[in-house]
Amino acid sequence: MRIVILAGSNRKEATSTKLGEYAAHIIRQKGDEAILFDLYKRPLPFYSPDEAALEHEHLSGLMHEMLAADAIVLVTPEYHGSISGVLKNALDHLGQAHFNGKVVLAASSAGGAVGVSSLLQLQAIVRNLHGVNAPDWISIGGLQRRRFEAGYDGYEGGQDIEDRIHLVVESFLNLARKLSRAI
Ligand SMILES: Cc1cc2nc3c(=O)[nH]c(=O)nc-3n(C[C@H](O)[C@H](O)[C@H](O)COP(=O)(O)O)c2cc1C
Repeated sequence: MRIVILAGSNRKEATSTKLGEYAAHIIRQKGDEAILFDLYKRPLPFYSPDEAALEHEHLSGLMHEMLAADAIVLVTPEYHGSISGVLKNALDHLGQAHFNGKVVLAASSAGGAVGVSSLLQLQAIVRNLHGVNAPDWISIGGLQRRRFEAGYDGYEGGQDIEDRIHLVVESFLNLARKLSRAI
């Protein structure tokens, strides 16, 4: 399967993007293809209903990747109890053609203990795009973010978050495989 991971931060050393890279590593270990689309490295124009901007190199790249995806991972920093502006902007450019019937895993990084508000909002957006929300999700919050900060020192608890991410990514891949066989 071909999995696209859309990393929704506009910060160079974002822990949410590192979380997306870690998910990509697990997906590749399982023998699937993982493509990380990092919105910091490939910024998109502001969405406007007046102008499709399809000639924009990053936007046409994103649309191409999302159309070809068998399943999708959306990763966001939690901002004001919601998803980041850059991720929302990217999703506004996309539509049901990119999501219909595909399994989507939501993941977030939050300053507080858990980033559930942004995850709930992501799942609402996925439902409106006719994607299939994976039953599990990933939240790294508070101290857990140390696992994804530069100079990770193997702190106590890092293994627990790694184990949780492995479990969730594996169950996401299993569901995506079942669904892609059924279609
Ligand atoms: C504008 C802004 C709003 C934020 N709002 C929240 C919030 O509502 N809840 C929370 O737990 N953390 C909040 N934070 C903290 C971020 O969620 C936290 O730093 C997160 O790890 C950022 O992810 P990143 O490492 O991918 O940049 C906010 C940070 C910023 C910059």
